[in-house]
Amino acid sequence: MSGTTHASAAIAAAGRLAAGLSAAAAGASAAVSRHASRHDRGAAPGDRDAGASPARAGIVVRDVAKVYPGRHGDVLALASTDVTVAPGQFVAIVGRSGCGKSTLLRLMAGLNAPSQGCVTVGGEVLRGRPPTFARFVFQDFSESLFQWQTVARNVAFGLRHRLRHSGLTPADADHYLSQVGLASVANRYPHELSGGMQQRLAIARALASAPRFLFMDEPFSAIDALSRARLQDLTLQLWHELSLTVVMVTHDIDEAVYLANRVLVLAPDGAGIAHDLEIDLPWPRTQLGTKESAAFLDYRRSLTKWVVETE
Ligand SMILES: Nc1ncnc2c1ncn2[C@@H]1O[C@H](COP(=O)(O)OP(=O)(O)OP(=O)(O)O)[C@@H](O)[C@H]1O
Ligand SMILES: [Mg+2]
Repeated sequence: MSGTTHASAAIAAAGRLAAGLSAAAAGASAAVSRHASRHDRGAAPGDRDAGASPARAGIVVRDVAKVYPGRHGDVLALASTDVTVAPGQFVAIVGRSGCGKSTLLRLMAGLNAPSQGCVTVGGEVLRGRPPTFARFVFQDFSESLFQWQTVARNVAFGLRHRLRHSGLTPADADHYLSQVGLASVANRYPHELSGGMQQRLAIARALASAPRFLFMDEPFSAIDALSRARLQDLTLQLWHELSLTVVMVTHDIDEAVYLANRVLVLAPDGAGIAHDLEIDLPWPRTQLGTKESAAFLDYRRSLTKWVVETE
């Protein structure tokens, strides 16, 4: 059997598995899918592009699957999946380890090519490379930084394209450093910063290029609780101010509910999306007020149950 035939067989088998899972999950998700189907996208502040069609301005994933060839056989990382992210939406992806969260994110971002199907971001069909108007923040933030350049130069690198085309000056890097609270350490090198500060720098650098889409894979997981809460609030603030469309993978259900206006729960073993939940919590969200609200706890309970049930 050729590699392609192997992959097709794996995807087809996964389709049957996913169908079984969907049936099993249907009872549990019935109550919440009413929320999810009411709107395919969330509410303010990501609502400012409400008139733009997702196909033109958002992310459209159509019949996308991913199989990795392995020495001991093909690994189905993601069965055939369809999802549409509207412009301005903040989508969190959760699920047990190895279920395909990073795979889905990387496919959406154009960092990996699908084994089948098609992804469109901002109206551009992805053909093996990320769109120029998207940026990424990963768990290992040190990999996104130039260790041999100062904090200011790292952000200026993010700005370089705009410096050429829009009349911005290197001093505009200061704006982004101020936004992430790093203006006072502009002349230091990344290794002279704490982990939380380095992650803020990675975010500032990503945002300096004025992306329309931000893809983040467990961006705060290696950061202490207090810095993490601050970065969550900073992310919300920048999402709001810059009208970003954000897709973020996280293991932290509280974080997903707090930040996102939509949460996708992936089924195990690459079977795809098991639940699609709109988070209809009021804005602005605050660490104490939002997280202690009854609605927050309800969302958290449903999502925890779904993720745990997949263990
Ligand atoms: N480059 C690769 N080559 C082969 N298999 C891979 C590759 N990347 C991921 N996989 C496999 O694909 C499946 C999904 O991996 P993925 O990284 O998407 O999971 P995840 O949900 O992000 O997990 P985690 O929460 O642990 O980060 C796993 O079985 C993994 O072993
Ligand atoms: Mg992962």
